[in-house]
Parts: sequence; C-alpha cells; structure tokens
Amino acid sequence: LKPEAIFPGRTNSQGFDLCDVTTLQKIAAARDPFERHEWSAGPMLAVQTAPTQAMHRFNPACPDDLVGTVRDASFADVETAIAGATIWDAPVAERAATLLRAADLMEDAHGELFALLAREAGKTLADAVGELREAVDFLRYYAGQAVEGTQPCGIFTCISPWNFPLAIFCGQISAALAMGNGVLAKPAEQSPLVGARAVEILHQAGVPRSVLQYLPGQGAVVGAALSSDARIGGVCFTGSTGTAMRINTAMANGMSPSVPLIAETGGLNAMIVDSTALPEQAVRDIVVSAFQSAGQRCSALRVLYVQQDVAPSLLRMLEGAMDELVTGNPWHLSTDIGPVIDGPARDKIEAHVAVAESEGRLRKRLSTPQIGNFTGAALIEVSGIEALSEEIFGPVLHVATFRARDLDRVVDAINAQGYGLTFGMHSRIDDRVEQVCARLHAGNIYINRNQIGAIVGSQPFGGEGLSGTGPKAGGPNYLPRFAAASRGSEAS
Ligand code: NAD
Ligand code: ALA
Repeated sequence: LKPEAIFPGRTNSQGFDLCDVTTLQKIAAARDPFERHEWSAGPMLAVQTAPTQAMHRFNPACPDDLVGTVRDASFADVETAIAGATIWDAPVAERAATLLRAADLMEDAHGELFALLAREAGKTLADAVGELREAVDFLRYYAGQAVEGTQPCGIFTCISPWNFPLAIFCGQISAALAMGNGVLAKPAEQSPLVGARAVEILHQAGVPRSVLQYLPGQGAVVGAALSSDARIGGVCFTGSTGTAMRINTAMANGMSPSVPLIAETGGLNAMIVDSTALPEQAVRDIVVSAFQSAGQRCSALRVLYVQQDVAPSLLRMLEGAMDELVTGNPWHLSTDIGPVIDGPARDKIEAHVAVAESEGRLRKRLSTPQIGNFTGAALIEVSGIEALSEEIFGPVLHVATFRARDLDRVVDAINAQGYGLTFGMHSRIDDRVEQVCARLHAGNIYINRNQIGAIVGSQPFGGEGLSGTGPKAGGPNYLPRFAAASRGSEAS
C-alpha cells in the first residue's frame, strides 16, 4: 500500500481540540455576528493604487447578512503588483521564523477567523476549526522544510479555491515564500475576505509587502492576467480541472516552457464496501466522506459501490444515519451540514438531483432551511461511476451495487474516468484490499476509514491524471517544485 493509505496517523496540529465544546461555545458567544469587514487590494500591494468598485459579500447561510466588501484588483493593480514584486532574499532562517510567527498570530486570531470562515464561506464550526488547523500546519510544516542553497523561481502566482479559503490559500503562499519566491495571491471571488485577513496576518508577521501582494478579483480577469504574464516565475493553482486546463493553455502561449505549473484539481472519488466490511463503521465513514463540509471537498466521496449481498441492509442503515444529520446555520454547534457556497452552486446541484428524481433514482433527500444557499443531502442510485460526467460539488452521494465477481470491472470503471484523487475501501480481507489498491489510480487511498481530511506532514495530499500534476501538498516533495534548480523534476 502507498504510505498514506494506512491510517490517519497523528495530528501534528498545535491548534484547538474540536472536542472542547466549551471553548467553541465561548468563541461563538464572544463574536459579534454582525461585524463587517472591508478590504481592498490597494493597501496590500507594494504600491497603493486607486480603489475599484466595492464588491459586497453576503453570508451563504443568510442572504441579508452583509459580511463585508472587497475592492477587486484592476488591470492597473495587476500591472503595479507585477512591476513592484520582489523575491524574498532574506536568509532561510528568517523566512522560516516569519512563517512560524504567522502561524502563532493565526492561532491568536482564531475567533475572528472562525467567524469569517463561517460567515463568508459557510463553514460549520467543526470545519472552521479543521481549516485553521490545516492552515497553521502548512505554515509550520513548510517553515520546517525550507532549506538553504536553492534558487527561487521568481514571482509565483498563487490561485486558490473558495472551499479552503484559508488552508489552501496559506498552503500555496507559504510553500512559495519558504523557498524565497515573491507571491501574487489571488483568492477565489467567493472568499476574498478570509484571504485578505490571512495576508494581513502574514504582513504583520514580517513578510515584506513587495514579497506578498494580494489581488482579489474575477478568475477570468485577474487570475487570467496573473497566469499568462511572461514575468511570472511559476503558477500554483488549486481549483477545477477545467480552469487548470485553461491556465495550462494560457501559460503555454505566454510563458517559457520551464515555468512550473503546480495544479491540484477535482476528482470523481469512489469507495468500495464489500460484504466483509463492518457495516456500522462503513456507514459512519461514508457519511463523513460524502456529507461533511456539505460535500464541498475535492476529496469527498461521490460514488459508493456496495457489494450486492449486503446492499439492502447497509443502505437502510445509511439512510437511517442520514436522518440524524442536521442541516442549518453553520454557526450552531449541532449543525452537520451548512450551506453550499452560492446560488449558482446550489442551482447546479438541485438540477442534478431533479434529473435523478424524474428518473426514479432518488433514494433519499434531506430537508433544509428555507433561506440561504442550502441544498438537501441526497442519495441517488446509479448504474456505476460512468453515469457521472463530472464532479457534483455538494452533498450528493451516488450509490451502485456490484457482484463479488465483478470487482475488477468496478476498479476498471473507476480508473476509466481519468481522475485519480481519493479512493476508499472497506473490507476485512487484506489480500483483496491489496489487489484493488495495486490496480487503482488515486493519489490518496484510505482503508477502513473515511476518505477526507488529509493531515499535513503525515498524509501528503494530491491526485494524478485529471486530478492534478503533483507533487503532493503537505509532503516532502512539494517545496522543491518552488525552486528553480528542480524545474522539470518528477512529481511525487
Ligand atoms: P475554479 O476552478 O472555478 O476556481 C479556482 C480559482 O481559479 C479561483 O480563484 C478562480 O477565480 C480562478 N480562476 C477561474 N478562472 C480562471 C482563469 N481563466 N485563469 C486563472 N484563474 C482562474 O474552482 P472553485 O469552484 O473555486 O473550486 C472548486 C474546485 O476545486 C473543485 O473542482 C474541487 O475539486 C477543486 N479543489 C481541488 C483541491 C485539490 O487539492 N485537488 C482542493 C480544493 C478544491
Ligand atoms: N486536503 C483536503 C482533504 O483531504 C482537501 O479533504
């Protein structure tokens, strides 16, 4: 098995204990839920520029809650930022110490960051805690991995998604900074407030303004400009496979072939449960894998294959477990499933579920609050993974059954999709697990546990095929890709 296939292992977080409900309750009570935030690109550029039009950000769970405004970067800002950008030529020990300071400051700001994650990105408190942990872990891990004697690539463009607006945002930036690169950070248009606060903290920790500049804005405008300019020394992207392909084409047209693109993208992730699996454990792990974070994780389980003999009882148990899930206000400790990020995301999921319903394949649907971008968790029958043409990014689990003798065909069907991010298997037959895992193409394989929530430092995370270029984030092979000396080296 691949090293990361075994078990969750330790957590290297020095953050907060999710089980400590009292702490969370105090934090929740201490926040002013109506506090507003305002940021613009200008003050976070090396040279200040005139503000552009304010873009309002509303809470995905509560459309009347104006979380704050952000002024998107203009083309002039992009030009100013690139022209004023510098690499970080401080000694490696100073860079590492600064990243460690930022990690501490981020932990100190936990209440504020939890509130922003919940209000801007719809994160449940449990997810917000996990996300801050991961961000802090990235900062500390890359600070510890930075080494003397490498050359930075130059100015790195870091483009991140809304579903981990703090963790992935900080992971990309801290990796590039640890190796002495300058960074132009472009958050997702849905989550610029979290990103702005993270950049403020990094500046406060001592990262020079010309080394780290913040450029919020539309992907097709600001993102495209930052990933096609010949002065850029590298692009680190996390997001959908389609956007990665567009960036790849733009880079091929405008940049030297030696400029690295590190892309972590989507997946169509499967889990196989055979008749020897422990049903209670399998059901618990299926629910977490498919529905935690409202299914808005690249790693989330999309297609569950259950061996035919045990399918009726296991699916009955799964439907019972789904009945226990609470969908609602992410700021409430009892909530399991918060909103999806925005109206278009909800509409796309609803349309997918409506087709399944019209075809008689919808087995179960949970109800939701009537306001906000909520969509009910759904269980949909499919013939197999080939029935899905794309990632459905929400709390929707597809289920298929298989006969024991068809196990190889199931593996072939999963591989044939071309993605390769996460895979899960529940079985008590070790030989069978090893045979399946030897043939299955996936970056992260999880056995007899859930398939989300890779831990920085002990479970490097990343996919193959349509799911990413490698190397894996949070692992020992990641930082060398941010150094000029290793351009073209093998991905992990
Ligand atoms: P997205 O591709 O729509 O956007 C990601 C980022 O790219 C955003 O900042 C966006 O503004 C920017 N962008 C959009 N068009 C661009 C362009 N033409 N040029 C440059 N930048 C552009 O993805 P999303 O909806 O924000 O995120 C969800 C997707 O991310 C899912 O597919 C999910 O699986 C994937 N994801 C992957 C990982 C991983 O580690 N593999 C982690 C998280 C999310
Ligand atoms: N790294 C995140 C996970 O493992 C995406 O769920």
